[in-house]
This record gives sequence, C-alpha cells and structure tokens, in this order.
Amino acid sequence: MPKEQLIIFDTTLRDGEQSPGASMTKEEKLRIARQLERMHVNVIEAGFPAASNGDFEAVRLVAEAIKESTVAALCRAFDKDIARALEAIKPAKSGRIHTFIATSPIHMEKKLRMSPDEVIVAARSAVRFARNGIDDIEFSCEDAGRSELDFLCRIIEEVIKEGATTINIPDTVGYNVPEQFAERIRQLRERIPNSDKVIWSVHCHNDLGLAVANSLAAVIAGARQVECTINGLGERAGNAALEEIVMAVRTRQDVFPCDTRVDTTQIVPASKLVSSITGFPVQPNKAIVGANAFAHESGIHQDGVLKHRETYEIMRAEDVGWNANKLVLGKHSGRTAFKARLQELGIEVESEQVLNAAFLRFKELADKKHEIFDEDLHMIMSEDVVAPGDEWYRLVSSMFHSETGETPQSRLTISVRGVETHAEASGSGPVDATFKAIENVALSGSELLLYSVNAITTGTDAQGEVTVRLSKDGRIVNGQGADTDIIVASAKAYINALNKLKSGKEKLNPQL
Ligand code: KIV
Ligand code: ZN
Repeated sequence: MPKEQLIIFDTTLRDGEQSPGASMTKEEKLRIARQLERMHVNVIEAGFPAASNGDFEAVRLVAEAIKESTVAALCRAFDKDIARALEAIKPAKSGRIHTFIATSPIHMEKKLRMSPDEVIVAARSAVRFARNGIDDIEFSCEDAGRSELDFLCRIIEEVIKEGATTINIPDTVGYNVPEQFAERIRQLRERIPNSDKVIWSVHCHNDLGLAVANSLAAVIAGARQVECTINGLGERAGNAALEEIVMAVRTRQDVFPCDTRVDTTQIVPASKLVSSITGFPVQPNKAIVGANAFAHESGIHQDGVLKHRETYEIMRAEDVGWNANKLVLGKHSGRTAFKARLQELGIEVESEQVLNAAFLRFKELADKKHEIFDEDLHMIMSEDVVAPGDEWYRLVSSMFHSETGETPQSRLTISVRGVETHAEASGSGPVDATFKAIENVALSGSELLLYSVNAITTGTDAQGEVTVRLSKDGRIVNGQGADTDIIVASAKAYINALNKLKSGKEKLNPQL
C-alpha cells in the first residue's frame, strides 16, 4: 500500500525572514521560491502581505511565478489583513490563506487583551471571511504549545466548522519536549469530533534545540504537514530544518508511516542559495547540509567507509545534492551561455540592462578566476546588479596599503547618489581602515554586529564572500559582498548593508 504523503510547508520566506538581519529583496525571494518549487516542496509560505508593501509585492511575485507548489500568505485574524493576503495570492495557480490568532492564556491576556470567548469569535469570523475568497484555509493557534488543551479543542472545532482545511499547532516559543508535544497532537485529534476533516500540521521553534525532534514526534502522532525552513532559519533560534525533517523521514521509513515528495538532490543547492542570499553561514557540523556532514576524519571511520560505505554512513552525500555544483562557465563563455545558465538556475533577470551589468561582472570575475561555479553566479546576481540605480552608495574604486610595521591605509572612491566622493582612513587592519573610510563618507552611526568571511568555492582564487551585519536605531541588516580580493568584498558588503539601511522600511512582525 502506498504511504501517506507528509506535506512539506516551507516558511523560509516568511518565518525565516524574521531572523534578525535575514530580510530579502523580492527578487531574492523569487529565486528561493523557484528553488523550493524545483525541490517539489508542497507549500511555500511567501510572506505576510499586510506587513509592508514590499512583502505584499514579494508574495504577489511568487504567486505569479510558481506553478507546482501552493503559495501561502500569512495574515492575522483581521478582515483587513486577510483581504490583503487574498489580493497578494490572487495570481497563484494554487493559493492558501494562513490566518492565526494567539490561544495561550499569557498571549490572550497580555498581548491581545482579549477574553478566550472573544478570541473564538475573532477566529471564526476570520475563517468565514477567508472562505469567501478561497477554499484552502490554514488556521494556526499561536503559542499552541502553551495553550490549554480544552480551549484548543473548543476553538479548533469551531474553525473547522467554518471551513478551515488545515489546522496548525505551533510551538511558538520552542517550549515543548517531544513526548509531550506528540501527546498534544494525539489528544487534539482524538477529542475534537470533526478532527478527521482537516490536515494536522505542526510548526516548531528551536529555542531548546528540539524543533526537529518535536515535529517528528508529532508526525508519528498523526500530523501530516510539517512547517520548516531551509537551514532551520527563523525567528530567534529558528524553525525546524527542512533538510533534517525530510531526510529523517526518508531514511527511517521503518519508523514513519508517511513520506514526502521532495527531490532530495535539491537540498544542498537550496541550502547554499539561502545561505548566500541571507548571509547566514551554515555551521560545518550541521546535519545534512554542513560542510562536514559527510566527511570522515578518523582513520577507523575512513577505513570502515572504504571497506563498506554503510559502516558509518546512513545516507549518501549525492542523494542530498552534494557534488552537484557544476563547473559551468569560463572566461570564453558568451552572453548566451551566461543567460542560459541563469535560466537553468531559476534566476529571473528583470531587464536587458540588468543582464548586461551582470554579464560585465561575470567577465570581470572570469578574468580573475579560471572556473566559475553556480555559487559564483548566485553571488553575482545577489549583488546590486539585481537592482541597479536603487543603491545610495556604490564602490567605484579602492586602494589599500598594508605593510609590516606600517599602519594600514585605505583610499576609496564612493559614488553617493551618483556623485563621486573620495574617502580615506587608517585602521588597525585593512578591513578596519576600509570601514572607517566608508563611515567618513556615510556617517551612518551604525554599530557593526558581525563581520564574517567565507570562501564561496575551493582554491586560493575563490571569491571571498563577506557578510556584514549593522544595527541602527533598532534595525538590523545584513550586507553581502563577494570578490576575489577580500578587502574589496568587505567594502562591498559594508556598502550593501548601508544601502539596505537607507532603503528599508519597517515591517510589521506577525508575532508582535
Ligand atoms: O511561531 C508561530 O506561532 C508562527 C505562526 C504565525 C504560525 O510563526
Ligand atoms: Zn513561527
């Protein structure tokens, strides 16, 4: 008998984007959405349209482009939010409204300042309102992990009667432990009389490092949808990691009564794409997608694997997409080949002007580097080339001086809204001098929270990918830059972060 399907609901573009500093442009969201579609994820939660016009447009863009996955939009249980979400997903071939309200005593009393009865009325009315616009409705009880079971039973029975088709049980603050969470799912399914009319879903946060364990325990207890994110990105400590959920279920078919439809060979490319767009590096020992996940160091392990791979390996690296980065282009490749590879990677180029700018950048890079990999192309397209003209600051040229016994110096030419300005500074190292020189021009007064450098590919000619995290007046942004010269990459990353600070509009966080 074929196994039941476990629905994979990816929320990288919504909850993932709520990680401080992980905000993405709409073009970046579209690229991730296309990769999720290629991976055969069932549902892509594209954003929270009432949060900002930018979020609305991003959801709409994803809804227009994605054909094989359902596109979901999050909204609070207000008619205005729901109407905005319905509008955003209108172009979708298959769309879903995901509405939620908090149900725990602490959230109802202190945050919503509503009585439990008022919360039930609001939930019913939200689902009824959504039902006028769409059939596929997911209802979430925010902070369900700390909600009273009797109250959950009452509210869920009511929203199912109103037409909700998926019921999501979030452990919003990551408080549960696996057995307890599974028991909660079991009880809800048993006690609610119309529970068989809906798909049961879970959405676990990782505050105690238990998001994946809690989600999997819930699957054994009957949940048939898991909400998760690539690399476990998400609010605070993040959400359940998609790659771990999918591979645990696939690898342990003896334990799970269901399986996903995910093409697992797309997992590592998705992980790399999300990491390069958000600037959140993946820790080397991260399960499935960490650089060391399939590396055997000790002699005993190496010997065992050489004799018989399964002595120490429960999965095959190639099954999750390792070794998939192809050598694609070199310095003799033309514009047509470049464009074709971008298309294969699902990278939408919005105009000929953008394509020309990107191609120039590619040629510059190919002159410095012999081999250009997919990761390099993603990085080229992540840079400002995606939205030329939008940037406030642009690095025009740079010169650095660093010599033993001398104070490092940086001399830059920066274009500020099209006007070239010279900047100069010294510092404790060339990067420090460069950031000071930029600040001498920008006077942003922002605080540097993080500076990190990663090699995008292997070899000493690899591009250095730099992430800079800045904080200003409570806003946190990540900037990225890549270049074969890491000082230049650092300057680009700092400028990229400043541009985000200049252009960004405050967004509403659904959990506030
Ligand atoms: O963690 C949470 O409760 C959420 C809901 C909005 C589903 O993200
Ligand atoms: Zn969440």
